[in-house]
Amino acid sequence: MKIILIGPPGVGKGTQAQKLQQSHGLRQISTGDLLRTAIRNRTTLGMTAERYINRGELVPDNVMLELIEETLFGENAPDAFTLDGFPRTVPQAEGLETIFTRYGARLDWVVLLEADHDLIARRLAARRTCRQCSAIYNLLTNPPHQPGRCDACGGELYQRPDDQLATIANRLRIYREQTAPLVEFYRERQLLSAVDALGTSDAVYQRIEKLIGGK
Ligand code: AP5
Repeated sequence: MKIILIGPPGVGKGTQAQKLQQSHGLRQISTGDLLRTAIRNRTTLGMTAERYINRGELVPDNVMLELIEETLFGENAPDAFTLDGFPRTVPQAEGLETIFTRYGARLDWVVLLEADHDLIARRLAARRTCRQCSAIYNLLTNPPHQPGRCDACGGELYQRPDDQLATIANRLRIYREQTAPLVEFYRERQLLSAVDALGTSDAVYQRIEKLIGGK
């Protein structure tokens, strides 16, 4: 199965992609995590991406398309996956279609996670992420058992630099301008299903399960 999760920053794409990985074995492909790893490793990609990410802006489409083709169809490519954070612009979605056609692959679902932007800003400000395994926590709704430590691997939890309030506002604006048009793009292709992202992460997951279980 090949799924795309779209929705504004902080709506819960990463949280749901990790649940899909645990329950269905769909590999979580988070372009945000791939870029953050590249930044940590000081690669050429990382150094290019860093200045965009820290301002809450999007990394250029050509860079992202090259990264996604290599990740989805290069060495150690997964058979089944959830795309979390890609595509994010219409040119990225068009490029992905071309890549899928080239490799004879088929997309099963595009799931749009919906929630209002005030709630999202609150979620992002309270998010903490594991430096080692990328597990996602929330100080208000899903805190770790031991403050500052990951329950799964014991790694250090940190606050992402792009989760500062001013940067969050910029990310939400960019979502509205550049990513929201994907809703129409995938609706026209009859691939889009909207899921309410309010409620606990388990409740949201059950809505996604119900949707994809039917296929
Ligand atoms: P990326 O890492 O993809 O960030 P994002 O899309 O902004 O999404 P987030 O990771 O912030 O949120 P999420 O929806 O995954 O929510 P989460 O599950 O963590 O990208 C970062 C940057 O990289 C971009 O700004 C851009 O610069 C660059 N980039 C990445 N992809 C790119 C691309 N394709 N093109 C160009 N540039 C790209 O949840 C958030 C919080 O809420 C957590 O604390 C979580 O515990 C909590 N939570 C989740 N669900 C619930 C719930 N149901 N109830 C209560 N709390 C919840």
